[in-house]
This record gives sequence, structure tokens and C-alpha cells, in this order.
Amino acid sequence: MIKGCIFDLDGVIVDTAKYHFQAWRRLANELGFDFTEEENEKLKGVSRVESLKLILSWGGVEKSPEEQAELAARKNEWYVELISNMTPEEILPGVKEFLDELKLEGIKIALGSASKNAPAILERVELTAYFDAIIDGTKTTRSKPDPQVFQLGAEALGLQPSETVVFEDAPKGIDAALNGGFWAVGVGDPANLGHAHLVIPGFKDFTFDKLIAALPVKS
Ligand code: BG6
Ligand code: MG
Repeated sequence: MIKGCIFDLDGVIVDTAKYHFQAWRRLANELGFDFTEEENEKLKGVSRVESLKLILSWGGVEKSPEEQAELAARKNEWYVELISNMTPEEILPGVKEFLDELKLEGIKIALGSASKNAPAILERVELTAYFDAIIDGTKTTRSKPDPQVFQLGAEALGLQPSETVVFEDAPKGIDAALNGGFWAVGVGDPANLGHAHLVIPGFKDFTFDKLIAALPVKS
């Protein structure tokens, strides 16, 4: 029986990938190179430090750990500035309705995000109150595809992975959910999320009944 849902934030609840891209690109440009939106796809679900390392490798730039820390902090300042203007209108279509339905059904709700900015974003879009537990990048030591973020979420909800569905837009996030024994729903393109138990284009017109009907789980 499904008793809980854990949501990734970036790309599932809000489209913050565009702000991450803007801020990282500004940093890359300052360092004298550029990278594409296609390359940016590879940063989804990847932690701040790991993202920086990938971007530096694309630009063929080497930096010391101290310099990397400074660059990551600089990017984050720009990112924080961008998200400080977010409003509830930026919640992706159907998300709020789906969360409302989960509440009515008595399903527990957690956030499982690599972002250290996740609590601030939930505040900006006025969704904090929906979450029974919030696991963000300050609470984890291992990155997706390690299942730690979702395990901590399930623990906080008092649930087993087999009772919990993870919603993710990143292939690595689906890997993390599957590695932890969770039900995995990909939000986006089946071309790169096909390993999930179910893939949906988004939450518009998606319902809890449709979720249960699509998963081979005992009710
Ligand atoms: C993930 C995003 O949710 O959080 C990544 O998909 C991002 O792109 C990561 O790098 C870390 O975010 P932050 O806000 O801690 O820099
Ligand atoms: Mg994501």
C-alpha cells in the first residue's frame, strides 16, 4: 500500500533548471568559455560542487579546491538572487492540485532534493506547509544516484521504501529511487527516464488514482 510520496524539487515542482543554467553560464563566461543547454541537462540532480567540477572540465579549466569553493559560492550568490524573485505562479502545472489530493487521501509528503536552497524555494512559492519532512542538500552526505536523500525522507515519514513513491525529473534521481527500493515515477521524457516504473509528462491531469492504477502495488 502506498502511504507516502517524496518529491524532488528542481524540475518536478518548479522549473529552477533555467536559473541554475543562467548562473552557471555567467560563471563559465567569466572564466572565458560557454556551455550548451544540452550539457546543462547533465547537471540535473547533481550537487553544486559536482556540477562545478563538470563545468570546469567542459571548459578545460583547472582550479584548486579553494578556488572551486569560491567559484561555487559566487554562482550560488547569483542563483539566490534569481530565486529570490520567484512567486507561486512558478509552481509547475498540476503540482498543487496533486499535493492537495495527497493531503485529502492522507498520504504523507516529503521533499528529497540535492539543493541547499530547497527550503528557501518552497517558502518563495508558498508550498512549505504541504511537507511533513524536508530533506535538502544540507542533510545529505552522498549524492544521487545514492538513495540516501530518499531514505532519509522515508525515515522521517516513518515509512518503508516499498510504501513510498519518488517523483524525479533526473535519470540519476530515478537511479537513486530504484537503488533504495522505492517506486519511481519519472517526470519528463520517457527517452531518458524509461527505467522508472512510470513516466508522466507532468502533473497536469495526473491523479492519485492514476498513480495507484499504474503501479503493480497491492492496495
Ligand atoms: C539539484 C539541481 O536539485 O540541486 C542541481 O537539479 C543543483 O542542478 C543541485 O546543482 C544543488 O543545488 P544548490 O541549490 O544547492 O546549488
Ligand atoms: Mg530535479
